[in-house]
Amino acid sequence: MATDESTAAAPVQVRPVLPADLPALGRIYAHYVEDTAVTFETEVPGRSAWEQLTADVREQGWPFLVATERGAPPGEGVLGYAYVKQWRARPAYRATVEDSVYLATEARGRGVGRVLLEALLAEAARRGARQVVSVITDAGDDASVRLHERLGFRWVGRLQAVGHKHDQWWDTVILQAALPEPG
Ligand SMILES: CC(C)(COP(=O)(O)OP(=O)(O)OC[C@H]1O[C@@H](n2cnc3c(N)ncnc32)[C@H](O)[C@@H]1OP(=O)(O)O)[C@@H](O)C(=O)NCCC(=O)NCCS
Repeated sequence: MATDESTAAAPVQVRPVLPADLPALGRIYAHYVEDTAVTFETEVPGRSAWEQLTADVREQGWPFLVATERGAPPGEGVLGYAYVKQWRARPAYRATVEDSVYLATEARGRGVGRVLLEALLAEAARRGARQVVSVITDAGDDASVRLHERLGFRWVGRLQAVGHKHDQWWDTVILQAALPEPG
């Protein structure tokens, strides 16, 4: 699948991740690992970790998408990425996934996240996902909560002080959305 969408700032293309994109994904995520608590990872993952993650998502049968500037060649113009993976490994959780979405800082706040997450949820639903869980650090930046709420997610809970990063304890909030059955 690949889709073209216009946002306020620029035309954006959404397509499945390619191996050439992995360095760009690493650069985007490194900022959030090092400078923020939006992820509880504390070490910047290397190339092999990205290869493993994309392989795991593919083997689970779920989508891993990138948003790029329209017409950019593989690995270039990458604005962000999003994927779903199994929420839990046990078989009865088969149709329940957890989403992740990260944008380059300069691509934030102009609708790219919405385009990317909409495409991700549609593709996950098409492949049989029924429930999507989003675990979001309560770090005072409302963009992720707002984005998920706009796409139909509802608050289902809060885990208190479950993360310790940058000398601070962090809560996570949990949002959930039901996906439509494929028509
Ligand atoms: C969360 C993220 C993916 C959102 O993508 P985005 O392109 O910046 O968001 P959009 O421009 O699509 O806006 C989505 C909604 O959030 C709102 N929003 C955007 N930035 C916001 C901010 N800083 N504070 C409050 N609301 C904000 C927008 O107004 C919009 O809501 P609306 O439709 O009601 O106007 C992106 O900001 C990001 O990568 N953040 C850092 C990584 C992260 O937190 N990922 C989630 C962890 S899984």
